[in-house]
Amino acid sequence: MKDLFGKALLDFQNGNYTEDIITSTSISDEDELPIPYLFRSYNEMPKLEQKALQLTQGRTLDVGCGAGGHSLYLQDKGIYIKAIDISKGAIEVVKQRGVLQAEVKDILDETETFDTILLLMNGTGIFQEASQVSKYLTHLKSLLNPNGQILIDSSDIKYMYEDEEDGGFWIDTNAEYYGELDYFLTYKGEEEDAMKWLYLDFENLKMTCESVGLSCELVLEGEHFDYLARLKNK
Ligand SMILES: C[S@@+](CC[C@H](N)C(=O)[O-])C[C@H]1O[C@@H](n2cnc3c(N)ncnc32)[C@H](O)[C@@H]1O
Repeated sequence: MKDLFGKALLDFQNGNYTEDIITSTSISDEDELPIPYLFRSYNEMPKLEQKALQLTQGRTLDVGCGAGGHSLYLQDKGIYIKAIDISKGAIEVVKQRGVLQAEVKDILDETETFDTILLLMNGTGIFQEASQVSKYLTHLKSLLNPNGQILIDSSDIKYMYEDEEDGGFWIDTNAEYYGELDYFLTYKGEEEDAMKWLYLDFENLKMTCESVGLSCELVLEGEHFDYLARLKNK
């Protein structure tokens, strides 16, 4: 990984913001990801994220913290927060912004336990593939304190396969799950290694939760097939 995402966050943090990140996926064309959006304040966050922050309590882990907006907001409210990310650049930014506990770490290497675990801005993306959801959920479950909760958002992206003319869907039923995408990112002319990124619909998330002994509650639906879910030990 070249960590172009982290590089973009560092550029913004250090006043060198000149252009946005360009993303594309196996099913969609190029699109801009505005870097200022990654530094959004509470008031600029989608309702689903605001709701997740309102429900957060106790020792909290922010998984894939990015530029750390959620962590900072919670830390300012007096909540103990640990922010982790696999991006070195992101963790440097988060530390510069004042998050006290921040570490370069893959979620699968985390071993402490928490009352709240946050995975926000398509939190299921980190699972990469439908076949890995139970492995990640089982690990996240092992990090929960008694009565702890996991707050995670995602979207059902079936709409991206809709034929605008006849309203039908062109999903290949022989292929892997339709929410599994290859994700490409370029920044300042450099190309990141291709990544896998998973959008998981609520019903599939719930089914896999049940299979690993977690309950899965739909907390809130967004305006565009997106949702926030709360998972707990059964
Ligand atoms: C879409 S960004 C979301 C950033 C932030 N949560 C936000 O809402 O702005 C996803 C983040 O997850 C991080 N990430 C991806 N896989 C991870 C893993 N296995 N463990 C920890 N972080 C991961 C990426 O480096 C990236 O910063």
